Amino acid sequence: MSLLDFSEELVSTARHLASPGKGILAVDESTKTIGKRLGTIGVENTEANRQAYRGMLFTTAGLGEFISGAILYEETLFQNHADGESMVSKLAQLGIVPGIKVDKGLRPLPGANSVETLCTGLDGLVERAADYYAQGARFAKWRAVLQITSDGCPTALSVRENAWGLARYARSVQESGLVPIVEPEILMDGDHTIETTARIQEHVIQEVYQACQANGVLLEGTLLKPSMTVQGADCSQKVEPATVAAMTVHTLERSVPASVPGIVFLSGGLSEEAASVYLNHMNTIECNSKWNLGFSYGRALQHSCLKKWAGQNVEAGQAALLARAQANSEASLGRYVPGSQPSSDEQLFVAGYTY
Ligand code: 13P
Repeated sequence: MSLLDFSEELVSTARHLASPGKGILAVDESTKTIGKRLGTIGVENTEANRQAYRGMLFTTAGLGEFISGAILYEETLFQNHADGESMVSKLAQLGIVPGIKVDKGLRPLPGANSVETLCTGLDGLVERAADYYAQGARFAKWRAVLQITSDGCPTALSVRENAWGLARYARSVQESGLVPIVEPEILMDGDHTIETTARIQEHVIQEVYQACQANGVLLEGTLLKPSMTVQGADCSQKVEPATVAAMTVHTLERSVPASVPGIVFLSGGLSEEAASVYLNHMNTIECNSKWNLGFSYGRALQHSCLKKWAGQNVEAGQAALLARAQANSEASLGRYVPGSQPSSDEQLFVAGYTY
């Protein structure tokens, strides 16, 4: 089997994931990262507690109305719910397609600026992806991270390495039937203006698609997961949601090929409310493009949910998750009324964040 054998399926999976009014739930936190999250509610990072938390998420009645896919960490893809049924089967009952984080994390990039990283996990990826497909996964994620600094980051080396890694990953998982989510995240760390972000993000995304072209990636069978075009977290500039939306759409229109069927944003440390409001604005302005502008949020879907669950309150956790899923579904259609669902304004940004 190869990309050619899977091409129709890849196109149809990508379109399905980007269905209007639906988004992706990113619950692929590594064991270390989920440990930090559980720590904030005083819950120990054991396999049983991770199973309980994710089992709660995946049995939320009605979630499939707003969520088309869920990105899992490897442990979860092969894990059972406490009731003995597999997590994959729980998701199937909600009509949610399982995906899998396939990168193996970030490492320092030798020869670049000391804050810069490369994303690891290419060795044996075609074979690993085939195992994930056999287990029920139909899409994948690889998160490359770029940072803007006053001393010249991202360097040309970092942009080239991360774009190439994303393209190699995308082609590799397509060989085994998984739709690649291509995620070049530009961190919010720094005091740069929104104009600087726009200029750099446009260049980074253009390089990603040049690398995809060189690797023969079937773009119709991919999704892009960018950060929104925002100013640095330490920038004093005050930017209105309508400006973030306009600059984000403009940047994407200048860099993303029309053949990409969907763009699903990460939340990147925005508050739950800001992630919904910005997305809603994007879907209300006139654009030249026809992409479905949706979401693939981690923190902006789970923050309130985790707090409400607090290790035991399944009903309250599920209600909070459903509220944010519905809000973002409405935002992806330009119909979100801010404040119409419970949410949090708490900034979720953490400097030097890893997933
Ligand atoms: P956030 O929405 O919390 O940024 O997470 C999305 C994600 O999948 C990061 O890789």
